[in-house]
Amino acid sequence: MGQSAAQLFHGQVCVIPSLSHLQGADKRSRVHFKSAICIWNLLLSTLNMRSKELSLSVKQAIIRLKNQNKPIREIAKTLGVAKSSVWNILKKKERTGELSNTKRPGRPRKTTVVDARRILSLVKKTPFTTIGQIKNTLQEVGVCVSKSTIKRRLHQSEYRGFTTRCKPLVSLKNRKARLEFAKQHLKKPSQFWNNIFWTDETKINLYQSDGKRRVWRRKGTAHDPKHTTSSVKHGGGSVMAWACMAANGTGSLVFIDYMTADKSSRMNSEVFRAILSAHIQPNASELIGRRFTVQMDNDPKHTAKATKEFFKGKKWNVMRWPSQSPDLNPIE
Ligand SMILES: *[C@@H]1O[C@H](CO)[C@@H](O)[C@H](O)[C@H]1NC(C)=O
Ligand SMILES: *[C@@H]1O[C@H](CO)[C@@H](O)[C@H](O)[C@H]1NC(C)=O
Repeated sequence: MGQSAAQLFHGQVCVIPSLSHLQGADKRSRVHFKSAICIWNLLLSTLNMRSKELSLSVKQAIIRLKNQNKPIREIAKTLGVAKSSVWNILKKKERTGELSNTKRPGRPRKTTVVDARRILSLVKKTPFTTIGQIKNTLQEVGVCVSKSTIKRRLHQSEYRGFTTRCKPLVSLKNRKARLEFAKQHLKKPSQFWNNIFWTDETKINLYQSDGKRRVWRRKGTAHDPKHTTSSVKHGGGSVMAWACMAANGTGSLVFIDYMTADKSSRMNSEVFRAILSAHIQPNASELIGRRFTVQMDNDPKHTAKATKEFFKGKKWNVMRWPSQSPDLNPIE
């Protein structure tokens, strides 16, 4: 007998008299009172049988009683439904104005709200997890959902699989130096930047070793430290080209392979100095004029003793990036 209250009363929900009413009505006869209690209990047990969803007329009865300002406890008792059900239905009515036992479109959801929440919390805790891992974790607690369902749930919560952004691991000392540099240069006039002669080497990765992984995250959270991988600059690649430019034009692009006789494409400080003397002076004076500042990063060959001497001899101003800076160089 899985009947709900409404079916029991042929679609008519009658307000079942409360226990005190019954007691009052049958005070004179103990026999009547006892049988009334029996009927009452029978009714209660029938009504308490949980069907999946309360029928529409029960819901209407809940609303009607609520409109009569009956407290939830009393409504629940009167209709023989759980207090939480009454509360849920009132809440739903308040939120959507709907009472009907709406059929959800499409197939019923396989994941419950609880499972969806579990998927989300897994992803939040370990953003680098994969759908397969989520599926396994859920399976361990006895929840069986397909990978596509998990993906759908994540997408519904605006989680997408992204490739991680690579961020260099920056030491505290370098972070301080970067901040200092930024403060010093923040308010420089554009004339200052017009006089900068930018140089940089561009590395081409021969192997896919750029530290990219897939991460689950919401849009706009790419730089959250939880969602990035660490990279070590110039790890395992090779330097191929050197280029220079200024505010009003580009200079030479030098392929290091042609500079190094043995084609090992290692640019040491000697090769580097050869490039500098061949290209910086003519290009900088063409693009900027007599007075210019050469910008370069902190690569060891730029800071090598011989290179420093070389700059001194040329009387060039040099502006250096603090170590481990992001690629602010326009050449990038
Ligand atoms: C840069 O220098 C190279 C080599 O001296 C020269 O061929 C090139 O024309 C120069 N470019 C500019 C824009 O001055
Ligand atoms: C760059 O600017 C300098 C000096 O302002 C000028 O002499 C030169 O012709 C400019 N070069 C280009 C390519 O515009």
